[in-house]
Amino acid sequence: MPLSHLTPADRLVVSFDNALRTLFGKPRGSGRASPAAGLEEAELNPAQRRHVGRLMRINHSGEVCAQALYQGQAATARRSRLRQGMAQAALEENDHLAWCERRLQELDQRKSLLNPLWFAGSFALGAAAGLAGDRWSLGFVAETEKQVSAHLDDHLRQLPPQDRKDRAIIQQMREDEMQHASHALEAGGTKLPLPIRLGMKAASRLMTRTSYHV
Ligand SMILES: [Fe+2]
Ligand SMILES: [Fe+2]
Repeated sequence: MPLSHLTPADRLVVSFDNALRTLFGKPRGSGRASPAAGLEEAELNPAQRRHVGRLMRINHSGEVCAQALYQGQAATARRSRLRQGMAQAALEENDHLAWCERRLQELDQRKSLLNPLWFAGSFALGAAAGLAGDRWSLGFVAETEKQVSAHLDDHLRQLPPQDRKDRAIIQQMREDEMQHASHALEAGGTKLPLPIRLGMKAASRLMTRTSYHV
C-alpha cells in the first residue's frame, strides 16, 4: 500500500520497521548491483586497509543517517507526491547502505557502534524538516546531499590509487547524491539560511570524526 494512504499511526509502525531493517537487517534497495562487483581486490598494506575500512565505516554511517533523514521526512511531509519521491530516494540510499556494508565485511571492519544514535538523531531532524514545510524540507535534502557529495570527494582523494572497488562505490554514490540534490531543488526546495547550513556541517563533522574510531 502506498505510504500516502496510511494513517499517521500506521506510518509510525512503518518507520519503526524501517529503522530496525536499516540498523540490523537487510533493507530493501532498488536492486542495483554494487559498482564494485566484478572489480579486482587491490593490494593494500595493513595501514591502508585499515584506513579505507574506516572511511567506508563513515560512509556506511552516513547512509544510515541518510536513510533516517528520508524516513523522518517521509513520515511528516505534507504533499503525498513528495513523500513518494522521498521514498524513492530512500530506496537508492539503501543501495548505498548495502554496498558499504558489503565492503566493510570484505575489509574486515565492523559497522559503527553508534549507528542507532545517528539514526535516532537524523530521524528527528528529518521529521522536523518535514514539519517545517515542503520547501524547507526539500531545501534541507538539497543541502544535505550537497554536503555529502563534498565529503565523498574528500574520501575519493584519500583512497589509495589502486583501490578501484571503493572508488567505484563512492563515485556512484556521489553521482546519486548530486541527483538527489537537483531533484530536491527542482521540486521547489529553498536555500537554507547560513547558520543552519553551518550547523549541519558541524553535526556531520561530529558524526564522521566519531565513526572513524567507534
Ligand atoms: Fe547515499
Ligand atoms: Fe542521497
